[in-house]
Amino acid sequence: MKVLVTGGAGYIGSVTARRLLAEGHGVVVLDNLSQGHREGVPEGAELVVGDVCDAAVLDKVFAQGDFDAVMHFAADSVVSSSMTDPQRYFRTNVTGGLALLDAMLRHGTKRLVFSSSAAVYGTPEEIPIREDHSKEPVNSYGESKWLFERILKWYGRAYQLLHISFRYFNAAGAAYGIGEDHRPETHLIPNVLRAAQGPSNGVTIFGNDFPTSDGTCVRDYVHVDDIAAAHVLALGHLEDMSGEVFNLGLGRGYSVQDVVDVTRQVTGVNLPVHVGPRRPGDPAALVASPERARNLLGWRPQHTELIDIIGSAWEWRRRHLDGYGSSL
Ligand SMILES: NC(=O)c1ccc[n+]([C@@H]2O[C@H](COP(=O)([O-])OP(=O)(O)OC[C@H]3O[C@@H](n4cnc5c(N)ncnc54)[C@H](O)[C@@H]3O)[C@@H](O)[C@H]2O)c1
Repeated sequence: MKVLVTGGAGYIGSVTARRLLAEGHGVVVLDNLSQGHREGVPEGAELVVGDVCDAAVLDKVFAQGDFDAVMHFAADSVVSSSMTDPQRYFRTNVTGGLALLDAMLRHGTKRLVFSSSAAVYGTPEEIPIREDHSKEPVNSYGESKWLFERILKWYGRAYQLLHISFRYFNAAGAAYGIGEDHRPETHLIPNVLRAAQGPSNGVTIFGNDFPTSDGTCVRDYVHVDDIAAAHVLALGHLEDMSGEVFNLGLGRGYSVQDVVDVTRQVTGVNLPVHVGPRRPGDPAALVASPERARNLLGWRPQHTELIDIIGSAWEWRRRHLDGYGSSL
């Protein structure tokens, strides 16, 4: 298939673009490079630098593309900034998403795979979280993803748009020479690895009095290439599973302290740890039930051990001491 990958210069999009190419699909990337990296776009994929909110850019891309499907990764996704600047989050993630859907309809492209998030659930009432858990987002980022999921439902019904959404838990790891390099970086694993590279004052753990086994927050880390694999699987199921939503996580939680301990093991660096105050809105634990993706899609994550996930990220870090633009 020929696939338009929005946000394909970003972390998950650029890994997925590589997997698509490896499996024989054609790829065009649309990315405004607000977060993404030109070097992240694989050889063999065309990069169009432009904004998903811009209907004229979209018309040009679709007119030249003749796409069979779209994978929509482009988004603003920093939770803390979504609390202070919701305008930006609704503009990019909802208005931009709508501009994309409308361009798809104008140009007759009717298949979409959407990157949603565990942030749609808010504070979980039960663990593991199933897809039918209540949706009460606690930040405008999660709200924007939930709004767009619901928009998709109506576009599906009225315009026969075929769509599958994935709610990722915490994407992590590196694949195909692509690692995680957000600026600012708010994700735990790359920040802990950066600290391990030194010189550093160590790592700050935000709260150690949560109701978890060691008092630190628990999250479900899923390897970025397993997320990419789910997207490629979804391409083959848009006809028979349109409207489905799947969690992508391993169904196993690791605490912040576990991540620090495994990082010490992987890097051999005895990282100092400081305990700071909790961050507002951080749930104690977020762990997926991945059963739907396993049972319906046949998704089988290949990277199931935290040590391998962090190990792959560390390998990438060692070759890119300062992230992109600093390859060794
Ligand atoms: N990383 C995670 O753990 C995680 C978890 C849940 C959901 N997600 C979702 O997965 C998707 C990809 O996440 P990521 O970690 O790769 O993020 P990322 O920031 O690395 O990638 C997003 C890409 O979208 C581009 N972009 C942003 N706004 C754009 C716009 N208006 N027009 C065109 N391009 C634009 C950025 O430049 C970037 O390359 C996002 O939708 C995110 O919300 C990520």
